[in-house]
Amino acid sequence: MPLRIGSVRGKIHALFNCLLVGCIITISYQLHSLLQKCDKETVSRNLFNSRLKLPPGPLISKSGDPQRSKLSGETWAQQSSSPVVNPHPYHFVLNQEEKCKNQDVFLLIIVTTSPKNYIQRQDIRRTWANESNIRGVGIKRVFAVGMPEDPDVQQSLVQENGAHGDIIQENFLDAYRNLSRKAIMGLKWAFTYCPNARFVLKTDDDVFVNPYRLMYYLRDQQSKNTSKLVTGWVYTGGKPVRDPNSPWKKWFVTMDEYPRDKYPSYADGFAYVVSNDISKALYETSLTTKYLFVRDAFIGLCMEKLGIHPRHHDGFRLNDEEVKSCSFDRVLAAHLHVVETVDMVNTWRALNSNCSAMRTHKT
Ligand SMILES: *[C@@H]1O[C@H](CO)[C@@H](O)[C@H](O)[C@H]1NC(C)=O
Ligand SMILES: *[C@@H]1O[C@H](CO)[C@@H](O)[C@H](O)[C@H]1NC(C)=O
Ligand SMILES: *[C@@H]1O[C@H](CO)[C@@H](O)[C@H](O)[C@H]1NC(C)=O
Ligand SMILES: *[C@@H]1O[C@H](CO)[C@@H](O)[C@H](O)[C@H]1NC(C)=O
Repeated sequence: MPLRIGSVRGKIHALFNCLLVGCIITISYQLHSLLQKCDKETVSRNLFNSRLKLPPGPLISKSGDPQRSKLSGETWAQQSSSPVVNPHPYHFVLNQEEKCKNQDVFLLIIVTTSPKNYIQRQDIRRTWANESNIRGVGIKRVFAVGMPEDPDVQQSLVQENGAHGDIIQENFLDAYRNLSRKAIMGLKWAFTYCPNARFVLKTDDDVFVNPYRLMYYLRDQQSKNTSKLVTGWVYTGGKPVRDPNSPWKKWFVTMDEYPRDKYPSYADGFAYVVSNDISKALYETSLTTKYLFVRDAFIGLCMEKLGIHPRHHDGFRLNDEEVKSCSFDRVLAAHLHVVETVDMVNTWRALNSNCSAMRTHKT
């Protein structure tokens, strides 16, 4: 009997000890994470205040506590304290340091292009992206390229730049899987060499833009509140391509490259507009975001981290139906896909002559 009582007592004792140890572990763990959290918040708040001087955005904290909202959102703060996982250690080989200096720049146009696409660039220069298209409005245009493998191509780029002074180039290889690097380079250029630009239009070299409509839209935006504006043709709920044999295998990504089952909302990169106040924050965020070669989704990820929601605008057209049929009235930008000189130049002529009834808002 006493033996049995003793063993029961022993068990109770052991159980009590276990509970005690458990309690101590839980308490100290919670205390630890509490302290860590406080510490993190102080640090990131300071970092935020010193590095990202952006107006407070639509980032209402979950608790709705105004004091916390004033920190301009945890997203920004966490961002600036994140480690650099995607360094961008490239420098400009071709640059336009003076292009925007001491000028009133309303719109900066950045056209991403391949080093060898001289003809496309010429067509764009003499049509929709001519800097003097709209009287009284400061427009600046640059073409963004990486390094070609062929030194002869580089030689012609240098010459072309000598004639037009509108090429920006960093020393990374111009390759499909480096397209996100090209987008990052554009952001870097925008806040470093053209911080005075109000808006940045980012397009590819197979895109036709209706500068009159675009300008009308942007002026309207400016009169409203344009901080943190991102607008284009927006995809929501897009899924990464997981099948290496899919027709879209060009965008095939492994779980390692991108583990989530959906992409955040993003603007199709053929053409979108951002207000230049976010270029720097976007660039800095790209450095702390794991590199993803799917360019538009990568930029979407950076925007998501910053709590910026791209706005869909129907004027960004994925095809050229309207411009072919002279209906320019709602077109801000149209993806032509296959660019032949005749297309770009005729479309421009049509916009300025035959379709003049549609050419609203020309100044
Ligand atoms: C402008 O928009 C931002 C973000 O949406 C907002 O926080 C800010 O209060 C707005 N400012 C004005 C003057 O409406
Ligand atoms: C741009 O437009 C101006 C004014 O219409 C014109 O003089 C100039 O030649 C154009 N530039 C190009 C490259 O076509
Ligand atoms: C991207 O550019 C870097 C720097 O030039 C180069 O090392 C890398 O191979 C390029 N990536 C691809 C996929 O070509
Ligand atoms: C303008 O219209 C005329 C007559 O319809 C046509 O022959 C011409 O090709 C058109 N020009 C352009 C640039 O579309």
